[in-house]
Amino acid sequence: MRLIMLGAPGAGKGTQAVRVADRFGIPHISTGDIFRANIKNGTELGKKAKSFMDAGKLVPDELVCDLVADRISKEDCEKGFILDGFPRTIPQAEALDAAVEKLGTKIDYAVDIEVPDENIIERMGGRRTCPGCGASYHIKYIPTKKEGICDVCGSAIIQREDDKPETVKTRLEVYHAQTQPLIDYYSAKGVLAEVDGTQPMDTVFAQIVEKLGE
Ligand code: AP5
Repeated sequence: MRLIMLGAPGAGKGTQAVRVADRFGIPHISTGDIFRANIKNGTELGKKAKSFMDAGKLVPDELVCDLVADRISKEDCEKGFILDGFPRTIPQAEALDAAVEKLGTKIDYAVDIEVPDENIIERMGGRRTCPGCGASYHIKYIPTKKEGICDVCGSAIIQREDDKPETVKTRLEVYHAQTQPLIDYYSAKGVLAEVDGTQPMDTVFAQIVEKLGE
């Protein structure tokens, strides 16, 4: 099963990708998480990506395409993978097509989680993440058991720099201009699976599983 998660920032791609990866026993590959890990570790890639991410803009295609092509060629991706946050532009989608073709395979589904902009603003404002293990929470929908402390690793949870309201607005504009055209791209290939992302998380997951035919 080779999958892509599409959707606006905060649509729930990461939340659902973790569940789908667990269900199908495939690796979850989040380009946002890869960049954040590189920023945390002070790598060259992290230094290059940081200013774009903090501004809510996309990191240039050339910094992400080879990275993903290399990642999906690893042994743990032989039976499939789920890409969360990639591709985000038509050139990235074309680069992914070339990479999967080289591996003698194809993308099975592009799952589009649809959520209107007004819901996104509320979700992003309430999201908190753990800088220690990457776990994601929401102050209203998924609160930590102990306020401000990660349930998994005990670190103090934070609000992502790019979840501040003014940056969320830019991210939504970038999404509509550069990433939304991928919906037509994958629809034309006959692999688009659309789900209603405004539903509770378990309902969204059930919709995805149904669309994937399991
Ligand atoms: P990235 O980390 O990919 O951010 P994003 O796409 O903006 O997505 P998010 O992680 O913000 O949201 P999500 O859809 O995963 O939602 P989540 O499940 O957390 O990228 C960050 C930056 O990196 C980009 O802006 C860019 O600069 C750079 N980048 C990354 N990939 C790139 C690429 N390919 N090319 C160029 N640049 C790239 O959910 C959000 C919140 O809502 C959570 O609090 C969650 O608990 C809650 N929630 C989820 N589902 C529900 C539900 N059904 N009901 C209620 N609440 C829900």
